[in-house]
Amino acid sequence: METLSQETKEKKVFMETFGCQSNVLESDHVTGLLLKNHFSITPIAKEADVILFNTCSIREHAEHKVFSRLGQLGDWKREKEGRVIGVMGCMATSYKNQLLERAPFLDMVVGPDQYMKVPQVIREAAGTGVSQVLADFDPVYFPENDPRRLAQPHKAFIEIMKGCDKFCTFCVVPFTRGREISRPTESILEEVATIAQAGVKEVMLLGQNVNSYGLGLNSKGKGITFSQLVKLVGEIKGIQRVRFMTSHPLDMPDDLIEVMATVPAVCNSIHLPVQCGSDKVLKRMNRKYSVAHYLVQVQKLRSSIKDLFITTDLIVGFPGEEEKDFQGTLDLLDEVKYDAVYSFKYSPRLGTPAARMLDQVSGEVQDERLARLNEKAWKQASEACESRLGKIEEVLVDGPADKTPDAYYGKSRQNRTVVFPGKGYKAGDVVKVKIESHKVANLYGTTI
Ligand code: 5AD
Ligand code: SF4
Repeated sequence: METLSQETKEKKVFMETFGCQSNVLESDHVTGLLLKNHFSITPIAKEADVILFNTCSIREHAEHKVFSRLGQLGDWKREKEGRVIGVMGCMATSYKNQLLERAPFLDMVVGPDQYMKVPQVIREAAGTGVSQVLADFDPVYFPENDPRRLAQPHKAFIEIMKGCDKFCTFCVVPFTRGREISRPTESILEEVATIAQAGVKEVMLLGQNVNSYGLGLNSKGKGITFSQLVKLVGEIKGIQRVRFMTSHPLDMPDDLIEVMATVPAVCNSIHLPVQCGSDKVLKRMNRKYSVAHYLVQVQKLRSSIKDLFITTDLIVGFPGEEEKDFQGTLDLLDEVKYDAVYSFKYSPRLGTPAARMLDQVSGEVQDERLARLNEKAWKQASEACESRLGKIEEVLVDGPADKTPDAYYGKSRQNRTVVFPGKGYKAGDVVKVKIESHKVANLYGTTI
């Protein structure tokens, strides 16, 4: 064992992360674990001995990107003995051994519940030349005890649950991430308290469906709901901002709205994916709510929480979507007036019920609807920004602005990006900025 770790001491790992926040968080855990195990991390792929892709299966496009990256690595792999290429994340659980058929020079396939083994798997793959596939689910695995390298000093993602039991007919997540399981409450609170002490001011509680946190928890954690968890996290010393995602509109409890309205640390923003504005399509998606139910939730949120920032996910061109269904989506936008919309063309995923539906919508119709949707969504996002002009925003600084010299950027409590001129600020500073203009979805102003 000692000789092995000696051998790997100089191995440099390059990791590229695709997909959602869960992947970003998990890459941080794996990075921490690798550093603890004497690997080093490089941001330059060419200089690496090990290349790892943390992958996403949510849409075909996301998988294509990874397959094309893998396709480019054959020569790199042959150039030097002992080089290792690995796939982690959702494609590991979607494809398992089949990935080795698509990319024969792949050395390791490691699913999200097996990340603790990444250092050992790299050693085995490099030492034996035999490809390793570890993609089974492990219901008790949570990364809370792993060493973790925080990508930013002032904000952190916190995994509070994993998997999903909703089985929306378009979605591959229940198959790639398994059944819904809540992380024990004490473990979450302990992690937040520890990172708060280290200087983290903002936490984002992550799960596929956070509103059902606590269901099925046993022992000490029994009985706690998501609303109670958010309140407890918001009361931890040093935590100034609490966000969470993703909420399912079906399970939006009234006491969560109350916590958002009354606990000072909890931010006034919510991501509430509606997916579509037609009851017929929602039913076929197995979303289990109607447009009317969704609008009631939005109305309750808006009437209780001041200046609520509300965002959503929308899918266009789901099988069977007719022009009148799509019109329902446009009408919904007019009704809610979202601050930001994440819009996607429906992408058939292997093994999901929607992929087997016979009335698939053509690519041209999807493109045309997406363009119309985006035009409306952008206009509304821009109007929402306009409404912030003249207001004073509390900004948590992220760092120097990319494109504007002598300026910094950060996020308002609503989660809008704010750019302001200044010198000498550092990530984690909190400043007040008076908003004077906006460009697309970014706000610009000066400190007061
Ligand atoms: N096709 C297109 N978009 C999808 N999403 C999930 N599955 C698919 C799919 N098969 C979108 C949903 C979800 C977001 C994370 O990705 O809108 O809320
Ligand atoms: Fe996928 Fe639906 Fe679960 Fe979200 S709630 S992860 S869309 S199955």
